[in-house]
Formats: sequence, C-alpha cells, structure tokens
Amino acid sequence: MKTLNVSLGQRSYPLYIGAGLIGDTGLFDRHIHSTQVMLVSNETVAPLYLDRVLANLGGRQVATVILPDGESYKSMASAMQIFDALLSQKFSRNATLIALGGGVIGDLAGFAAACYQRGVPFMQIPTTLLAQVDSSVGGKTAVNHLLGKNMIGAFYQPQCVLADTSVLSTLPDRELSAGLAEVIKYGLIRDPDFFIWLEENIEALLRRDPETLTFAIERSCANKAEVVAADERETGERATLNLGHTFGHAIEAGLGYGAWLHGEAIAVGMCQAADLSRRLGWLNEADVSRIVSILQRSHLPVTPPAELNAGRFLELMAVDKKNVDGNLRLILLEGIGRATLPVSVDVGVLMATLEEYGRNC
Ligand code: NAD
Ligand code: GLY
Repeated sequence: MKTLNVSLGQRSYPLYIGAGLIGDTGLFDRHIHSTQVMLVSNETVAPLYLDRVLANLGGRQVATVILPDGESYKSMASAMQIFDALLSQKFSRNATLIALGGGVIGDLAGFAAACYQRGVPFMQIPTTLLAQVDSSVGGKTAVNHLLGKNMIGAFYQPQCVLADTSVLSTLPDRELSAGLAEVIKYGLIRDPDFFIWLEENIEALLRRDPETLTFAIERSCANKAEVVAADERETGERATLNLGHTFGHAIEAGLGYGAWLHGEAIAVGMCQAADLSRRLGWLNEADVSRIVSILQRSHLPVTPPAELNAGRFLELMAVDKKNVDGNLRLILLEGIGRATLPVSVDVGVLMATLEEYGRNC
C-alpha cells in the first residue's frame, strides 16, 4: 500500500492506494471514530463490493442508502434521501458517511456529509479510475441543478481516501478509458516525465496491468494532492485541472449529459485546447500530434461530435464558470507539462479551432 498526503493544515488527510484495501479493517478503524456509519453506494457497485466494506464495520450502527445508477441521481432529491435516512435513524453529528462508488456517489455523499448537521466526517472509497485519480481527492462536493451541473456544492475534505486498485477489475473498458483522459491530463498540465511514461505504458494500462495501473494512480494522485494543497479553493493553479473542460462541458451539455462520458468529452477538449495553443504559437505541431495520438491509443474520441457546429459550441462555452465579464477564459498549453492559468482568448482564433479542428488532427 502506498500512502500519500493532502496537506491542508488541520484538514490534511491520507490517500491510501493499493490492492485489497476495502478488506483492510485496520484502515477503517483508524479513520472511523464513531459508532454510527452511513454507507452510500449505487445499484451497480453495491452488489459487487458493499459486503466486503460492511465486514469491516462490525460493532457499529450501520445504515445504507443504495441509489439507482447514473448522473441524474447526483441530485438534491438523492441528498434528501440520505438526510431522511440519517435523521430517521437518529444519526448524530459524530456519524461517519462513507461513499462507495464513482464520482457521482463521491460528490453526492460528500455534499451530504458537508451539510448534515453542518458537517460530519466522511470517507471516500472511489471505485472508478476517474474517481481514484481525480474526484475523490480535493474536497469538491456537489449535486446538479436542472440549470447546471455541479452548481450546488461545497468544498469539504474527507477524513481519508481509500483507493483499492483491485476494484477496477470490474470497471467497463469505456469507463477505464474515460479515467485515462484525466490521468493524461496531469502529464499535460504539470508532469512532462509522466506524459512520456504514459506514452510508453498506455497499452499496459488498457490491459489493466496491476503494477502499471497502480503507478499511474499514485502519480496522478500525487499531482492532484500537490495542486490542492497549493490552491484548495481554486484561486490559481487548481484551475489548470480544468484543461479541456470548457470545450468538454460544451460537448456534454450540447449532446445532453450522459451521451458522452465526461472523460470522452475532456479528451476532445484537450485536443481542441492543444490546437488553439498551437495557433497562438505556444505549442508545436509535433506536440499536438503526440497529444492526439496518446488519446487515440487510449480509445478516446479526438474529434467533436458532428452535430455541434462552431457557433453552437461557442454559445455553450460562453456559460463556463471561468469566464469573467463575458470574456471567454481558457486553460491552454505552453508546452507538454506546462498549462497556463485561465487566459482570455481572441474569439477569432477560437473560432478557427472550432471550425477547422476536425480536419487538422
Ligand atoms: P460514475 O460515478 O457515474 O461511475 C461510472 C459508472 O461506473 C457507473 O455506472 C458506476 O456505477 C460504475 N462503476 C463504478 N465503479 C465500478 C466498478 N468498480 N465496477 C463496475 N462498475 C463500476 O462516473 P465517474 O466517471 O466515476 O464520475 C463522474 C462524476 O464525477 C461526475 O458527476 C463529475 O461531475 C464528477 N467529478 C467530480 C470531480 C471532483 O473534483 N469532485 C472531478 C471530476 C469529476
Ligand atoms: N477536478 C477538478 C478539481 O478537483 O479541481
């Protein structure tokens, strides 16, 4: 087992990464100081892993909320279902919440933990690659609103993150690739050596070679932990974690959430950000090709969906949270391993990327 740390003063916490951790009762005892535990999961993950987690919780009052699977359940109604269960079973402000699932369950349970009695301890057990390398680390919690994704939320850090690499064996291939998009993102924004390592090891990752996968998770988490420690509230460097996201969110919103996976939309967004960076003279052709190539080799899409024309894309991008006073602000690349902070972008250059991108790569 590898242990990393997210350094946030009194709110610091460990990230445990390794095979079989959901069966390590010692880890649960170390981080659960209450007699009451509420476990939140979904109908896909619970049949696979719930019993193994529950086996660690003997001697405590344990309750579960098992939600249907899907992004649409990352909602206020689901949060209310968790609050109903907590209140009706008289859970106190010392109770611990455990999130067992992907980013949907992690964001939702984290949000519920942040709100219940103004905040109760919680533990993240991420079960997708995306959740292990990104969403479970850093304390962004949220539910969706009909008018916007992740619009109701809080920064609220967990007591610990327990990333059991062996649970990835049951993850569908498409979800694995979507998680790889976020792994590749760390190489692109701040870790050029890791990017080179990924170029050499991407096939082993797709084969789920345990050692290779564990290294990629550790290195991704180390990057994320450093960024979060430096900028918890996203006033600076944390924004670079959104490379490709403004483009990607436009795809997700334009097609309707769920049509493409988040990681798939981000993969295209990172290609578009690379293309735009090249047009601005910041990135060379060869590096753009390396970026497109590693995403293709990860079985990710690299061109936007045909139904989104440039005009519609621009409209959708205009609602991004990073925009200020109507100016589009994007994270771009000044090289592989070097992301910019949000920069205002000339709409003419952006339109050139949106119009020609598909033909150029
Ligand atoms: P998800 O939670 O929907 O999980 C993807 C699918 O995999 C689901 O069907 C799920 O049931 C299934 N699954 C999960 N673990 C499995 C396993 N081990 N075996 C088999 N199936 C399994 O999606 P996700 O990609 O994990 O997370 C996406 C969510 O994360 C979005 O809501 C996004 O907004 C959020 N997110 C949050 C942050 C953050 O910083 N908080 C960062 C990135 C993304
Ligand atoms: N996934 C973006 C962040 O944690 O800031």
